[in-house]
Amino acid sequence: MCGIVGFVGKKACADILVKALKRLEYRGYDSAGIAVFEGDSLKTVKAKGKIDEGLVRKLSEETPLTATAGIGHTRWATHGEPSDINSHPIGNGRISIVHNGIIENYRKIKEFLISKGYVFESETDTETVAKLLDYYYKGDPMEAIVKTAAEIEGSFALGIIFKDFKNTIFAIRRESPLIVGKGEGESFIASDVTAILDHTKDYYLLEHNEIARLDENGARFFDFNGNVIEKALHTADWDLDAAEKGGYKFFMLKEIHEQPEAIRKTITPRISDGMPDLSECGLTPEKLRGYKNIFVVACGTAMHAGLVGKYVVERIGRIPVTVEVASEFRYRNPIVSPDDLVILVSQSGETADTHAALTLAKDMGAETLAIVNAKGSKIARDADMVIYTHAGPELAVASTKAYMVQLAVFYLFAFELAWARNAISEEKCRSLVKGLEEMPALIEKVLEKPDSSQFAASKLVAAENLLYIGRGLDYALSMEGSLKLKEVSYIHSESYAAGELKHGTISLITEGMPVISVATQTDVFDKTVSNIKEVKTRGAYNIVVARESRQPGSDAADFIITVPETDDILMPMLAVVPLQLIAYYTGDLKGNDVDKPRNLAKSVTVE
Ligand code: G6P
Repeated sequence: MCGIVGFVGKKACADILVKALKRLEYRGYDSAGIAVFEGDSLKTVKAKGKIDEGLVRKLSEETPLTATAGIGHTRWATHGEPSDINSHPIGNGRISIVHNGIIENYRKIKEFLISKGYVFESETDTETVAKLLDYYYKGDPMEAIVKTAAEIEGSFALGIIFKDFKNTIFAIRRESPLIVGKGEGESFIASDVTAILDHTKDYYLLEHNEIARLDENGARFFDFNGNVIEKALHTADWDLDAAEKGGYKFFMLKEIHEQPEAIRKTITPRISDGMPDLSECGLTPEKLRGYKNIFVVACGTAMHAGLVGKYVVERIGRIPVTVEVASEFRYRNPIVSPDDLVILVSQSGETADTHAALTLAKDMGAETLAIVNAKGSKIARDADMVIYTHAGPELAVASTKAYMVQLAVFYLFAFELAWARNAISEEKCRSLVKGLEEMPALIEKVLEKPDSSQFAASKLVAAENLLYIGRGLDYALSMEGSLKLKEVSYIHSESYAAGELKHGTISLITEGMPVISVATQTDVFDKTVSNIKEVKTRGAYNIVVARESRQPGSDAADFIITVPETDDILMPMLAVVPLQLIAYYTGDLKGNDVDKPRNLAKSVTVE
C-alpha cells in the first residue's frame, strides 16, 4: 500500500526521492509524487500511473530541480480514484504532506474545515489532514502537528513540510509504519528500510505518537509535549543485493530461488542437537502442553501457510487447530479462551485485519504468537511472543519465500508441540527435524529443473478457467497454488477438495480445461487418482504434481511433474515449488508485470 519517503541532505533530492519510491513500488500503488523545497517555495510534481510513465515523465518536462530536501509518495487509492489530483503530496503553498493510512473521521473534519472557508480539491481523506494542519499552523509546526494529531482518528504515517521551515521534514505516525534513516550528513524518512538501503542501513523506528524532525543537522525525536526522546539506532540486516533482481527477470523468480537459503536461515537457529527449540520466543514445553486449542489467523498466502500448519499440527500434535482469515475472525465474536494459543502469521507484520485479530485475541485473554518476517513491525511488537522468519525482503507482491519459511516455522512448532505433548517419540521428532534440514537441498533439486513447470504454464496460458484439486495436505497446498496463479496470471482458478468435486463443481469441467492435481500424500493417493480420472473422463487436461516414486498412470495424467522423496508431512514444502513456478511462468508468458500484479498491494494496511 502507500509508500512514504523523505530526504534532507546536501545533494539534489529529486532523483533520490524517485529512486527511493521505486524501491517501494513493490508495496503496490497507482500514482506517485514528490514535493521539495525549490528556492523559496514548495514545488510539487505528481502523476497518476507508474513512476516511470507518470512522475518521471513529468519531472523530465520541468526545469531540473535543485532542491536538497523533500518528501515523496506512492499512493494506493482508497478514498478517491487514482488521478493526478488525488495523488500525494497534498497541500497548499505553505504546507505539503504525504500520508499512509486512513483517516476515519475525515468527513467530520472536512465539514468543520468547509465551515471555516476551506475549499477541497481532491476526494482524499489526506486533504483534510493537510488543511487541518494549515488551520492550526500559526508559525509553530510542532503545535500544528500536535493539535492535528489529537483530532484525527485512524491510522497514519505522515511526512510534512512547511515552506517557512526550509529543508526540514516533520514526521509522525500512529499505526502505519515509518522509519527514520540516518546517513552521513543526510536523513531520510521511509515506510520501510528497503527504500533507503542505497544510502544507509541505520535507522530509527518511529513509535506511535512520536514526532521526528529532520534537518541538515540530523534527526531528533519529540513527544507531544515537546520533550526530546532518545531513540535506539537499528541496523538493517538486509543488504542492497537482497533488494535487487540479481539477474532474474522478476523478483518473484529470484525469491522462489532464494527459498532454500531462507529455510536454512530460519530453521538453523531453532534446532539444537537435532531437536526443535523455540524457547527463544518463550514457547516452553510446559506452555505447549497447556494449550487447549490453537487458532491460526492471517490473510492471503499467510493464511494458506496456516492451513498446512493445521494439518501438520493436528496430525502429529493431536490438538485442535482452527484456521481463519483475519477479516472474518475479528468480526464473528469467536470463542477463544485464556487456555488457547492464537497464532498470527504475517510477512509484513502490518496487515490491518491480522493486527485487529491480534488485539481481539489478547482482549479475550488468549496467549498470542506472531510469525512475522518484518522485524519490529506492528504485529511482531504487539504479540506476546514472536518467531521471526528470516526470508529477507520479499518484494514481489505474490508471496513465495515468505510462505515457505512460514511453513518451516509451523513444522518446527508442530514437532516441538508434538514432542512436548508426548504425541510423538523422540526418535520420530529427530527424524522429522532431519527431514526438514534436508529440505533446502531437495528444493534446490526441484529448482534445477524448471522445464516441466514451464511446459505446464504453456498449457495454461490460453485457459480462461481451471481447477486445482487435492486431498489433505495436498488440498491445503492446492489453495496456495490457485491463489498464486490468480495473482500473477489473472486466470480464474478454484481450488477444490478432490473428493468434493463430484458434489457440484465437476459440472464446470469442459473439453480441454486444465486441472492441476497435487497427489503426493500416500494415504490418499489412490483416492486422488480416482478423482483425477473422473475429471479426465469429462475432458480435462490433467497436470499432476506427484512424488517420483508414486505417479498416476497415463489413464489419469496427461502431464506429470515430479518432486523428490521426503516424509509425507513435509511434502508441501517441495510440492509448492512447481505450483509457484507454474504461476510465475504463466504470468510471464501472458506478458504481465509479475511483480506488481494489477489491483494488489503487498502490505494491506487498511481493512
Ligand atoms: C496482501 C498480499 C498477499 C499477502 C497478504 C497478507 O494481500 O498481496 O501476498 O499474503 O496481503 O500479508 P501479510 O504481510 O500479512 O503476510
